[in-house]
Amino acid sequence: MAFDIDMIKKVYSQIAERVDKARDVVGKPLTLSEKILYSHLWDGKTDKAFTRGKDYVDFAPDRIACQDATAQMALLQFMQAGKDNVAVPTTVHCDHLIQAKEGATKDLKHANSVSSEVFDFLESVSNKYGIGFWKPGAGIIHQVVLENYAFPGGMMIGTDSHTVNAGGLGMVAIGVGGADAVDVMAGMAWELKFPKLIGVRLTGKLSGWTAPKDVILKVAGIVSAKGGTGAIVEYFGEGAKAMSCTGKGTICNMGAEIGATTSTFGYDESMERYLRATDRADVADAANQVKEYLTADDEVYANPEQYFDQVIDINLSELGPLLNGPFTPDLSTPVGDKMTEIATTNEWPLQVEWGLIGSCTNSSYEDLSRASSIAQQAIDKGIKMKADLGINPGSEQVRYTADRDGILGIFEKLDAKIFTNACGPCIGQWARYSDPKNAPKNSIVHSFNRNFAKRADGNPNTHAFVASPEITAAIAISGRLDFNPLTDKLINEDGQEVMFDEPTGWELPPKGFEVKDNGYLAPDPDGSGVVVKVASDSERLQLLTPFTPIGNDISGAKLLIKAFGKCTTDHISMAGPWLRFRGHLDNISNNCLIGAVNAFGMKTNFVKNQLTGEFAGVPDTARAYKAAGVKSIVVGDHNYGEGSSREHAAMEPRHLGVVAVIVKSFARIHETNLKKQGMLGLTFANEADYDLIQEDDTFNFLDLNEFAPNKPLTIEVVHANGNKNNIIVNHTYNEAQIAWYNEGSALNLIKKENNA
Ligand code: F3S
Repeated sequence: MAFDIDMIKKVYSQIAERVDKARDVVGKPLTLSEKILYSHLWDGKTDKAFTRGKDYVDFAPDRIACQDATAQMALLQFMQAGKDNVAVPTTVHCDHLIQAKEGATKDLKHANSVSSEVFDFLESVSNKYGIGFWKPGAGIIHQVVLENYAFPGGMMIGTDSHTVNAGGLGMVAIGVGGADAVDVMAGMAWELKFPKLIGVRLTGKLSGWTAPKDVILKVAGIVSAKGGTGAIVEYFGEGAKAMSCTGKGTICNMGAEIGATTSTFGYDESMERYLRATDRADVADAANQVKEYLTADDEVYANPEQYFDQVIDINLSELGPLLNGPFTPDLSTPVGDKMTEIATTNEWPLQVEWGLIGSCTNSSYEDLSRASSIAQQAIDKGIKMKADLGINPGSEQVRYTADRDGILGIFEKLDAKIFTNACGPCIGQWARYSDPKNAPKNSIVHSFNRNFAKRADGNPNTHAFVASPEITAAIAISGRLDFNPLTDKLINEDGQEVMFDEPTGWELPPKGFEVKDNGYLAPDPDGSGVVVKVASDSERLQLLTPFTPIGNDISGAKLLIKAFGKCTTDHISMAGPWLRFRGHLDNISNNCLIGAVNAFGMKTNFVKNQLTGEFAGVPDTARAYKAAGVKSIVVGDHNYGEGSSREHAAMEPRHLGVVAVIVKSFARIHETNLKKQGMLGLTFANEADYDLIQEDDTFNFLDLNEFAPNKPLTIEVVHANGNKNNIIVNHTYNEAQIAWYNEGSALNLIKKENNA
């Protein structure tokens, strides 16, 4: 059995005492989020009430999950920590490196051939250090975690921002950088700023065309892409209880798109049903015995305004289907007339060329069955498919079962491509064009979570809209972005007007889940003799050398780039073809910040080298500064580093000689990642100082030798004309994080402590 029932029973055996004590210490009823957080304190001592949004707290997560792209760097780092085994149950999932092109069989064969050295490395390093390994094709990390490992009241971290998906099964599950995962694998505490709490009360009931996806699309529209920053979103109410467990997973999954630390739901019957259906009756039985500790105290949900920092109300009975996008997941538009109006005004292409169903967000059995009910109607009513359709099942278990039950066959009758059980088009691993940069303007609709420019197919002109699987199916069949399946008719092949009926489906497979080979490989109980496979001449894998400390004397540092507007981790360290170099720091650094718009000239990957006066790409310019022994600085706007947890977005600038990133505000994970790599992540005390920064600026840090918690730093900015401005920058480093900076990286500190 892949999951660890003993570990879960241990968590449940401690939960009552810890939570009861926490309630006394906090002095009021507790939310579910607080129960999970307080029952996972690193030292197990529940003797202090923490201040939300302020206190840094050490936690002891129950599990770790890594995907193949982020696992490479995480495990290369773990190898440096000098341990025999991971300290906490850990799994690796091969899902990001599989390109979608022709369909699952050919695509998987191709991936196994072109990425064999990475998969071999991950399999061997997992086997050596006691890590469970899910082979390519086994499924998408978060769906596999939900099916096998997530459990109510648990805490997990994962090296992927959509780790939050496991909140659908009542966990506090948080996406972290590989460096954080390495800490926990190495037996250390995991530190997090105690989050604020947002409560979302779901009244009414979903029905008809409205799906769980619409709940989170609505929330994103209300709070925006940074509205959840630093907070756990806790959903409750009659509408929450009436929803499937995998639907809850969808909502939690896209909590990442509002910047939330994570999202979660209280344990209920839908979770129990899901646990039993996925062969975990013993987890359900154990959870039932501590039920009251796996949801908030009654008083909290009765008077949520008193216990949450913010409460949002959504009446599911009044909610209709939404389409979010393009280019940002929080631009929410109801399907139909409103979309016609907005799309026409903005010149978004109304013709839809592809519909894509799947990803970790919406690839459950329920999702596929509801979408297939629409596809079946197209067949029955003689409606010709107007766009192409692609399906990525979430796991081999879902795929096998959906195939057995005829669901995939329905899509295939519409000529849909069934891609591998993997991320594929969700992460730019989609061979849609031979020359994506010059591909035409077009619209696509998908049931994924992210829709930043180029994210799906590398084409900056693809307008990607996010919707539920059933709406995605209907829009793909109609071929129209402004199609409203609730009211609009289509003309079938006999020239008749026809309409879709409401989607139908199964929460869980009526005949149960089934799978022949789920793709799991258990590790060797004694991995001491296992050899980790890394070729010395590999282009894709490179053993790491420790970073040297930056030190307290930063003077004469040059501006590398002043990023304008949105600068996500995709802009800093692009995905797509670059995923291939995830395990090779020097090679992947050639994508450093190439997607960021330079505020001077408004071009990407075109910055001034102050030493020569010439303009070049960001990585080349950074390398030129580094070669000349000159430190460099990156300046950015709001929510810098939003998006994913990839620590490459911090390691690459560090590797190329950037010493500080100064921005208006950070996305949490990225800020932590910068700290882990031993560099400075700073925010302008006065946001308007961003405007002071000029293209030829030089930076002198005046008081870095007094670097201390809660003490702002002063930087002298010298302009080309000799004028100077002293600017104040804030930081959120605590004592431990300053120690990382002083040692050169968090990993350097772990090693030092191991050897001590
Ligand atoms: Fe994969 Fe996309 Fe999810 S990249 S893990 S399917 S967000």
